Amino acid sequence: MARITASVYTSHVPAVGAAIDLNKTGEAYWRPLFAGYEYSKQWMEENRPDVVFLVYNDHATAFSLDFIPTFAIGTAPSFNPADEGWGPRPVPQVIGHPELASHIAHSVIQDDFDLTIVNRMDVDHGLTVPLSLMCGQPQAWPCPVIPFAVNVVQYPVPSGRRCFQLGQAIRRAVESFDQDLKVQIWGTGGMSHQLQGARAGLINREWDNAFLDKLIVDPAAAAAIPHIDYVREAGSEGIELVMWLIARGAMADVAGGPAPVVKHRFYHVPASNTAVGHLILENP
Ligand code: DHB
Ligand code: FE
Repeated sequence: MARITASVYTSHVPAVGAAIDLNKTGEAYWRPLFAGYEYSKQWMEENRPDVVFLVYNDHATAFSLDFIPTFAIGTAPSFNPADEGWGPRPVPQVIGHPELASHIAHSVIQDDFDLTIVNRMDVDHGLTVPLSLMCGQPQAWPCPVIPFAVNVVQYPVPSGRRCFQLGQAIRRAVESFDQDLKVQIWGTGGMSHQLQGARAGLINREWDNAFLDKLIVDPAAAAAIPHIDYVREAGSEGIELVMWLIARGAMADVAGGPAPVVKHRFYHVPASNTAVGHLILENP
């Protein structure tokens, strides 16, 4: 049986990817941010999964406004880093896991969550920046990755409640796969940020930290946060945080198991226009 061993949560700012790719991580502006991920890279080496199920959002890169899937699962054997205007990031190709991805698609769709199946796709900073933060700059990513894209860019976007329920269905799907695989689920994006309009630059430390507290100890309460609260308190792009609820919904305690262990918690402002939050939760 495959099982979910841990969940990882992290922001995905494109400038963080550029700082890594252009060797600027030692600069005064970036040093405190990358210091917060030193533990995480070590933890990744010591707790290497067989597969990462990576919940992220595409930023109108692979999906234009012509096609807007709410939830899309990547079933391809591989995914190339996308060109977002400056050429593709110089990071390894992402190797998928078509067998597990197809199984999860089958199980979750039969469990009433209507996914879009994606057999060919490039992956943008939403996916590659979290990989860089957690894995550094290897020649190859440490394991296969299943990209799972959520629409948080073009309205209407899914509710936190729906995302939390989907995470529970993903856990059931993983546990019904008959190979012994250690699977990590990552929820990415957020925390507070607004890139547009009169409130561009908005950051809300207090709300972000209350969200982290709630996500850890009372995820059902975090899942009940209405959409308008994210936008008002965490800014228009703060809505990316609903993706964290997919990862949290897949943890054991939500299905009556033991509470997760908080291995790492980090929060840092500024990183470009975004408040960076990061958590590692392990299933005991
Ligand atoms: C920034 C943050 C994002 O989440 C994003 O997708 C693009 C830019 C930023 O803070 O610059
Ligand atoms: Fe984003």
